[in-house]
Amino acid sequence: MPQRPYVIDEMISAKTIAARIEELSRDIADEYNGTNKLVVVGLLRGSFVFIADLVRELDLPIEVDFLEASSYGDTMQSSREVRILKDLRGAIEGRDVLVVEDIVDTGHTMKHVSKLLHSRKPARMKTIALLNKQSRREVDFNADWVGFEIPDEFVVGYGIDFAQRNRNLPYIGKVRFT
Ligand code: IMP
Repeated sequence: MPQRPYVIDEMISAKTIAARIEELSRDIADEYNGTNKLVVVGLLRGSFVFIADLVRELDLPIEVDFLEASSYGDTMQSSREVRILKDLRGAIEGRDVLVVEDIVDTGHTMKHVSKLLHSRKPARMKTIALLNKQSRREVDFNADWVGFEIPDEFVVGYGIDFAQRNRNLPYIGKVRFT
């Protein structure tokens, strides 16, 4: 798809992200203290960098699993209709679960995914989002932990893409068309 040219302005540095992940992982470890195993569920593909850094800071026995839900495709618009493209490999009934998302925007994706996973009767289930765009919310959903509140800007980097590009930036930046 041809793209209008754009530049990326840094919004959150790699260092700031790392410091915040240290704080969040301490809170998560406190919350799940005593767990015999925490299933960390990453939503593909945007959360793959976040989940990699988060689990390496988590001092808990963990397993990692992934789920893929349909989202923007190659556009900047939320589709609102959420479909599961790839389900978990393992069962979560009776397990402690942490769902890891890159961004909560309209909230449709996480509302749908949380409802689905709740129906499988996990023991304790909580959600974490690296970024939250509260001003864009269309449905009632709030993650239990949020890394950073951000304004209504289209962001990339640290796993997050624009039409599959820029996932490998070590920081989070906003897209500015030139
Ligand atoms: P929601 O269902 O509208 O909350 O959308 C969540 C998904 O939309 C996220 O997991 C991202 O994949 C995508 N998304 C939302 N905002 C952005 C953005 O600023 N940049 C890239 N992807 C985004």
